[in-house]
Amino acid sequence: MLFVPGDSERKFAKGSASGADALILDLEDAVAPSMKEMARAHVAGLIDAKAQNNWMFFVRVNPLNTGLTFDDLAAVVKPGLDGVLLPKVNGAADVVRIADELGKLEAAVGMEPGTVRIAVVATETAAAMLNLASYVPAPPRLVAMTWGAEDLAAQIGATDNKEQDGSWAFPYQVARAQCLFAATAAEVLPIDTLYANFRDPAGLEADCRRARRDGFVGRIAIHPDQVEVINRAFSPTPEQIAHAQAVIDAFAAAPDAGTIGIDGKMYDIPHLKAARRTLAGA
Ligand code: COA
Ligand code: MG
Repeated sequence: MLFVPGDSERKFAKGSASGADALILDLEDAVAPSMKEMARAHVAGLIDAKAQNNWMFFVRVNPLNTGLTFDDLAAVVKPGLDGVLLPKVNGAADVVRIADELGKLEAAVGMEPGTVRIAVVATETAAAMLNLASYVPAPPRLVAMTWGAEDLAAQIGATDNKEQDGSWAFPYQVARAQCLFAATAAEVLPIDTLYANFRDPAGLEADCRRARRDGFVGRIAIHPDQVEVINRAFSPTPEQIAHAQAVIDAFAAAPDAGTIGIDGKMYDIPHLKAARRTLAGA
């Protein structure tokens, strides 16, 4: 999911051609206060102009404590909008509030109820960290959860959120892991946070591989150059696909077996489930 500042025509053109699964047009922190109104109108116009694209159109609205959220929603809820990303949410109650408003706005513009999905940045406040269990079961419209360390660190009053070697300090490792568990328990997509150094494809790739290993299914990009690296890292390799297919075929050939051997290794039901996930991901 590629972030595109909502006040930039040029970046929207670049983003559309980036290969990202979703663009997130930002009305929040990538837009200066003086540009907020212009960005809102600009993004609304982009949704109107949206042709058939093979990417989803998301908008990151401003958080509830700014007083801007409902005006943002009113401007962008119209045919062509696929979802909203909610920053600085404190828990599922905030999502329910937004979901109710989306329902009203969809009705007003004649959209099918429930069309506009919700993704959240689930760890940007201390209260949010304590409320992660509120996402289970998932509130209406929630499809994905991601996490962020910058706003959380600022709120806590931390002087930094990284170790000297560049890894996340412990509080943010907790945020990352808890986001993963909450999204999994809520049965929505866990999406890893951004990698800020957009001129470091090797570092991004290594970090994506760790995220994929841990169970994240995708990642936020902040620069078009990151999209190809991310898509590659989170896609199963041809070898993984072939192996998954072999596991599925072997179980299909032995419908009453709970465990089988392939090439001298034991496979049981968790391997079958993993193989199905691999093929679904592909
Ligand atoms: N989406 C679309 N296009 C982007 C882009 C993005 N996120 N980031 C950069 N580009 C474009 C630039 O406009 C430039 O296009 P041009 O050649 O037509 O001028 C090209 O890609 C190369 O950009 P580059 O010079 O490498 O970077 P930059 O200095 O222009 O921009 C950032 C750096 C960080 C300002 C920019 O990547 C950005 O705005 N990122 C998104 C920030 C954001 O939305 N943050 C909110 C979530 S944390
Ligand atoms: Mg932020």
